[in-house]
Amino acid sequence: MQLLAIAVVVAFSVISAVILHRFLARKTFEYIRGPSSPSWLFGNILQFNRQDQAGDLDFKWFREFGSTWRLRGILGESILMTADPKALQHIFHKSGYSYRKPADNNEINRLFAGPGLVWASGHVHQRQRKIMNPAFSAPQLRTFIPVFQRNIRKVTETWKNELSARPEGRMTDCVHVWFTRATLDIIGEAAFDYSFGALSKAGSRLLDVYNNMFLDATMYPSKLDLLVKATWEYLPPSVLWLVDYLPLKDIKRMKQIRRAFHKEAQKLLKDKTERLVAGKEGKKDVMSVLVRANASENPRSRLSDAEMTAQMGATTIAGHDTTATTLTWLLYELSKNPDYQRKMREEIRIVRSSATARGDDSFSVEDLDSMVYCMAALKETLRYHAIVVGVVRVAEKDDIIPLQYPVVSKSGELVREIPIHAGQRIMSSFCAYNRLPQVWGDNADVWDPTRFLNHDVKRETSVGMFANIMTFSAGIRGCIGWRFSVMESQAIIAEILENFEFSLPPNPPEIQRLPAMVVAPAVRGEIEKGAQMPLQISIVE
Ligand code: HEM
Ligand SMILES: *[C@@H]1O[C@H](CO)[C@@H](O)[C@H](O)[C@H]1NC(C)=O
Repeated sequence: MQLLAIAVVVAFSVISAVILHRFLARKTFEYIRGPSSPSWLFGNILQFNRQDQAGDLDFKWFREFGSTWRLRGILGESILMTADPKALQHIFHKSGYSYRKPADNNEINRLFAGPGLVWASGHVHQRQRKIMNPAFSAPQLRTFIPVFQRNIRKVTETWKNELSARPEGRMTDCVHVWFTRATLDIIGEAAFDYSFGALSKAGSRLLDVYNNMFLDATMYPSKLDLLVKATWEYLPPSVLWLVDYLPLKDIKRMKQIRRAFHKEAQKLLKDKTERLVAGKEGKKDVMSVLVRANASENPRSRLSDAEMTAQMGATTIAGHDTTATTLTWLLYELSKNPDYQRKMREEIRIVRSSATARGDDSFSVEDLDSMVYCMAALKETLRYHAIVVGVVRVAEKDDIIPLQYPVVSKSGELVREIPIHAGQRIMSSFCAYNRLPQVWGDNADVWDPTRFLNHDVKRETSVGMFANIMTFSAGIRGCIGWRFSVMESQAIIAEILENFEFSLPPNPPEIQRLPAMVVAPAVRGEIEKGAQMPLQISIVE
């Protein structure tokens, strides 16, 4: 009884502290315009998490208020939301670690992978990233091109077999499923020389663990879920790890993934360490590279075993569904744009002829880089279908955020910079930035890869890891795997477009962008079936 009373008092105090803190902080952005709040308790947060399609509200709000606006958070918190290039550049590129990940997001990162790169902050993150960067450099990634090609070729062979059995020469199939399998096998082989067996009948212990992971864990969180997580920001680290035991659906799912992965990863780590100790020739996978780097690095920059396992877990999760989903959206757009698809195929064939004339039966990195129509289509898809719609950050200290595009305040004044207090939240909208007409022109709302064919479009404010797009986030915490993803996509696009033609199926279903951590396509009315993208596939003559 006494224990219960204590628990109630503690809970009450935490909630009171939250309310007081938010109340005091809410005043600062009041002069900035934003949507009205449908609920005192949830502000705009429930509405944001329950969008019919990912990005709908971001697009609506920037049209209404300009590229920066105010949101109401849980318990009256005042949140700044921005798609402004200069603000994004300030937060992600220029401020070091002074805009951190909020506790609610970050504990989930720890839950699914452990104490690795995605979770770590400050100097711990810096140490980990320094060891990991070389494993994701361009020269290292070149060695993976045959891995990409070998795996996607298995998909080509399967489709060709299927199609040759059909007199009409075409079939409708879910391309997302195939891309997920191919990218999972690729990340397994490239990251730690492990076979998930997703493209073979053999399978593996880990295969099912990842299936529809983001949708299961992160789509449409419950009200309780949102309220519980809102308190995490106020818990000290010594208590925060207890969230592992909360009976929330994403926590259970993430823990299941971490446990399953951890078991396999420990075996792999042992194996690789033994190779190293025995002086055997090292393999080229990321984990082997890291084990070698760890052994030769100075003692202050080493990875513990737990950190290593966490890196590999995070790489697996961050590195397959993301690329697979982007490629799925790409094929969807190409199915709607047959002329552009044809141009890409012609380009691939020309490069094929010169590769064959050289006596090569596979494309080299230079071959892939010379396919400018293909690259433009990839960039445009990353821009238009930002599979990560945005991320949230908390200011570590008082600061002033500059704006490239001033907004009009409630009282009609022009706001060119926004002072913020330590502890305030900023939601950056990558999907809205990626479609700002001021940056991308009047046709920002149209999927049009030709915008990337003109090489020297100079941007006033450059942001992001690649092509001025924010989809990979940016700066010292930007996606470490962006180049991996791009090279993998280049190899996959060349292989499948050379062999197949894609079009919308007869009576195409309506496709919906599901608002999960990775924006997946679903067939409207069939969300319970998970991510789906049925397209018609036929062999190229
Ligand atoms: C289209 C594909 C991809 C997209 C759109 C994407 C997007 C992102 C974004 C937005 C972040 C920042 C997350 C945050 O700040 O909360 C991130 C981080 C990360 N990504 Fe990717 N990613 C992709 C592919 C990959 C691949 C292929 C890998 C690995 C091979 C990878 C590994 C990582 C890792 C390890 C981090 C954490 C980096 C850090 O905190 O220092 N990603 N990614
Ligand atoms: C890194 O090196 C340290 C010191 O030699 C060792 O204890 C640790 O297990 C190594 N970590 C990995 C992941 O190899």
